Amino acid sequence: MDLRLSGRTAVVTGASRGIGLATVAALRGEGMRVVAAARTVTPELEDLGAIAIPVDLGVAGGPARLVEAALAELGELDVLVNNVGGGDGAATGGFLSFDDEQWDEVYGLNLFATVRVTRAALPSLLRRGGAVVNVSSNGARIPHAGPVPYTTAKAALTAFGKALAEEFGPRGVRVNTVSPGPVRTAMWESPDGYGAQLAASLGLGREQLVAGLPATMGMTTGRLVEPTEVAALIAYLASPLAASTTGADHIIDGGSIKTA
Ligand SMILES: NC(=O)c1ccc[n+]([C@@H]2O[C@H](COP(=O)([O-])OP(=O)(O)OC[C@H]3O[C@@H](n4cnc5c(N)ncnc54)[C@H](OP(=O)(O)O)[C@@H]3O)[C@@H](O)[C@H]2O)c1
Repeated sequence: MDLRLSGRTAVVTGASRGIGLATVAALRGEGMRVVAAARTVTPELEDLGAIAIPVDLGVAGGPARLVEAALAELGELDVLVNNVGGGDGAATGGFLSFDDEQWDEVYGLNLFATVRVTRAALPSLLRRGGAVVNVSSNGARIPHAGPVPYTTAKAALTAFGKALAEEFGPRGVRVNTVSPGPVRTAMWESPDGYGAQLAASLGLGREQLVAGLPATMGMTTGRLVEPTEVAALIAYLASPLAASTTGADHIIDGGSIKTA
C-alpha cells in the first residue's frame, strides 16, 4: 500500500532505538525526509539516512531547539511523531517511593517534552495541514499496572492528544495517540532498563520476568509487541489515507486491555 507520504517531512522524537528507530525506518521507507531526535546518535539511526539531531528533550529549551533545527533542515513539517518517553527516571515502586524530583523527571519526558515540541511545531503543521502522532501507553488506561508517575503522565498525554485534535482539527491538523502494551525494546531488554529494575524488585531474573509478561499482562497473542508493528500503525496514522482518523487512542497491546 502506498501511504502517499513520499517527499513529505517528519520529526520523530526518541529516535535512536526502539519504537522511535523503527518509526524512522518506516517513514524513510515511505520516502519521507525525516529529522530524528535523541540524546545520542546511534549507528542504526545513522544507517537510515535521517537527519539526526542530538538533543535532550527532558530539559526546557531542548524541544524548541529541535524544532528550530528541523525547520532549518526541512523547511516545513508535515508529520510530528512524539515518541520520546519512558526514560532513565522510570523507576519501579509504589506511590510513596517517588519524590518530587522523580515526578518532575518522568512528567518532563513523558508529557512536557511532547507539549513543548508540539507547541513549537504547530505553526508549521498548520501551514501544511499536518498530522501529529503521540506515543502514550496502555498503562494510561490501567494506571495501577506501572509506576504511577509514568502511567498518569501517559494518561495526561492521551488527554492532551484528544484536546489538540478537537482544537486544531477544524484547521486541518489531525492528532492521534498510539498506546502500546509491552514492546520488545531496551525498556524490557536492557540489563539496566525498567524491566531489569522491575525483575529485581520482584526477586526475578530479567529474562524470567519478560518471558512471563504476556501471561501476566493478559496478552492473548502470547508475545511482546514488536517495534515494527507500532511503527506501521504510526506510519498509517501519519498518512493522508487516515484523513478521517483523528482524536483517537489506538491500543496496540496484544489484547491486554479487556474492556470494549
Ligand atoms: N517498550 C514498551 O514496552 C512501551 C510500552 C508502552 C509505551 N511505550 C512508550 O513508547 C515510547 C518509546 O519507548 P521505547 O520502548 O522505544 O523506548 P527506548 O527503547 O528506551 O527508547 C527511548 C528513546 O528515547 C530517547 N530519549 C530518552 N531520553 C531522552 C531525552 N531526555 N531526550 C531525548 N531523547 C531521549 C532515547 O535515546 P537517548 O537515550 O539516546 O536519548 C531513545 O531513542 C516511549 O514514550 C514509551 O513510554 C513503550
